[in-house]
Amino acid sequence: MRLDRLLSNQNGISRQTARELLRQGRVRVDNQVCHDGLHEITRFMQVTLDQHCLQAAQPAYYLMLHKPAGYLSATQDPQHPTVLELLPAELRAQLHLAGRLDRSTTGLMLLTNDGLWSRQLTSPSAKLAKVYRVTTRESISPQAAARFAQGIYLAREDLFTRPAELQLLSPCEALLTIYEGRHHQVKRMFHAVGNRVCALHRERMGPLHLDPALAPGDYRPLDAHEIRTIWDPT
Ligand code: URA
Repeated sequence: MRLDRLLSNQNGISRQTARELLRQGRVRVDNQVCHDGLHEITRFMQVTLDQHCLQAAQPAYYLMLHKPAGYLSATQDPQHPTVLELLPAELRAQLHLAGRLDRSTTGLMLLTNDGLWSRQLTSPSAKLAKVYRVTTRESISPQAAARFAQGIYLAREDLFTRPAELQLLSPCEALLTIYEGRHHQVKRMFHAVGNRVCALHRERMGPLHLDPALAPGDYRPLDAHEIRTIWDPT
């Protein structure tokens, strides 16, 4: 909600009074004087007028998890363990996943209770790079990189994948960078070039790299720089 609306929603504060309070520097957002009525206020921000708290900040959580194989990217499932079960019970109900991985896929998963933040990571328009380490059954063909760069036709969606970059590491291993996140996308791309993915591991989402200190199943909170960096990855 905009700051001027939040103010004029308070008892006894008209829109004109709200403008005046802002002009006089009596309104603070997260302890900083704010004069801008258009400033967007989220539930994670504290808003005060003089000494009075108009809105207390709710805690925001941003976690990086090293997903092990065998865990579902879901909140609950009757059959398989879910990635949320790797987190303390008191956090589970509040968090959602910023992007999914297949059950067999390992690597970087991000979890948060901040919907704006997760949308920035996952929305197709953000075009954030996702980097996967791929192990294949057959040798990766010399044509694969060019096919992925052109885009692979996905019949179910009736579209071509965005240009992707393939970097060969060995005959059956490569890093693949994609800029979207369609269902089983990496597996379908390799299938389209006559190969099969045997193992898939996500190393990076936009500017966020999986911390090498995290063993499978471990997680840690993101630091302030990591949280901010998805808005300005350059
Ligand atoms: N592409 C896939 O095929 N599977 C994943 O888990 C992620 C990307």
